Amino acid sequence: MTAAPREYTHGCSLAPMAGFSDSAFRIICRRLGATSCVTEMVSVQGLSRKSAGSCRLLSFSIHEKPLGVQLYGSEPADFERAASTVSGMGFDFIDINAGCPVRKVLSSRSGAALLLDVPRLLDIVSAASAGADGLPVTLKIRLGWDPSRPLPREIGAMAAARGASALAVHGRYRTDMFEGPVRLPEMAGIVEASPVPVVANGDSTSPAAALRMRDSCGASGILVGRGAIGRPWFFRAAAGTGTPGPGPGELAPVVLEHLSLMRACMPEPFVFHAFRGQLVHYLKGFRGAASLRSRAVRVESEEDVRDVLEEAAAMSEAV
Ligand SMILES: Cc1cc2nc3c(=O)[nH]c(=O)nc-3n(C[C@H](O)[C@H](O)[C@H](O)COP(=O)(O)O)c2cc1C
Repeated sequence: MTAAPREYTHGCSLAPMAGFSDSAFRIICRRLGATSCVTEMVSVQGLSRKSAGSCRLLSFSIHEKPLGVQLYGSEPADFERAASTVSGMGFDFIDINAGCPVRKVLSSRSGAALLLDVPRLLDIVSAASAGADGLPVTLKIRLGWDPSRPLPREIGAMAAARGASALAVHGRYRTDMFEGPVRLPEMAGIVEASPVPVVANGDSTSPAAALRMRDSCGASGILVGRGAIGRPWFFRAAAGTGTPGPGPGELAPVVLEHLSLMRACMPEPFVFHAFRGQLVHYLKGFRGAASLRSRAVRVESEEDVRDVLEEAAAMSEAV
């Protein structure tokens, strides 16, 4: 088993988030202090079909590294093939998704469905490790399906015996979806029994909350999801090197850089549709945010984006 990058196991990394943690956002987050990143989840079946959508999710730049590629699926053989396909592409580790609660993913017995079938989950870890050609394999789990069906507390040792070099634990059950506080005692139990590093995930509503969560359950690292959307400054604050939000004059350059990075990595007709979803999050917390958001969801050009940012700046000056 090869160790996973320390920047992932002992740092504060950007969580995989379909629709958000694309190459552009990962570059921004790394620059603002994320110690590593993970791609959006990529279907192992899509990879074996060479589907354009799955292949597009694999593009990245050197500025995102250390970078993990996250795979999801249900068949061990698919994972072995996919791990072999991605192992020569320059990623730093391969992460297995065993937590996605979305119905479409569950219906293919993937994501959180694996929490109900530990033997299959472990076969997937073995298969991915066999195909990975020495690249570290990590496993992202929830606590279990529901409180009556938790994963074994020894899941870290079980996964390590099959080749996993680290775990990320989202401290909720599938039935919790994304709601409610993370369950620290259950997370701490998994951490305590794990021979490999555990990265804690869930409820990182602020850098202070994220650090508290990590320390309360004894994990070595943190994986930040929603708290970083529209707030990539989160990471520098978690590292103690800056504020968690943009300082004066900092918002517009980051938003415009994000837009230009998106333009560089996706076909132009898709850019503004995708960018609107990011822009609204950059505007949260502003005075007059509701009116700004209603303009943000209609931007169709860089000029529109600049106009919205100017209005945001004028509003914050007026406070
Ligand atoms: C929009 C969205 C997309 C997500 N996509 C993925 C994904 O592709 N793979 C994955 O393992 N988790 C995914 N997650 C879950 C996050 O990685 C994370 O586990 C969860 O949001 C809890 O962390 P947080 O409270 O810091 O957001 C997603 C979450 C959100 C909100």
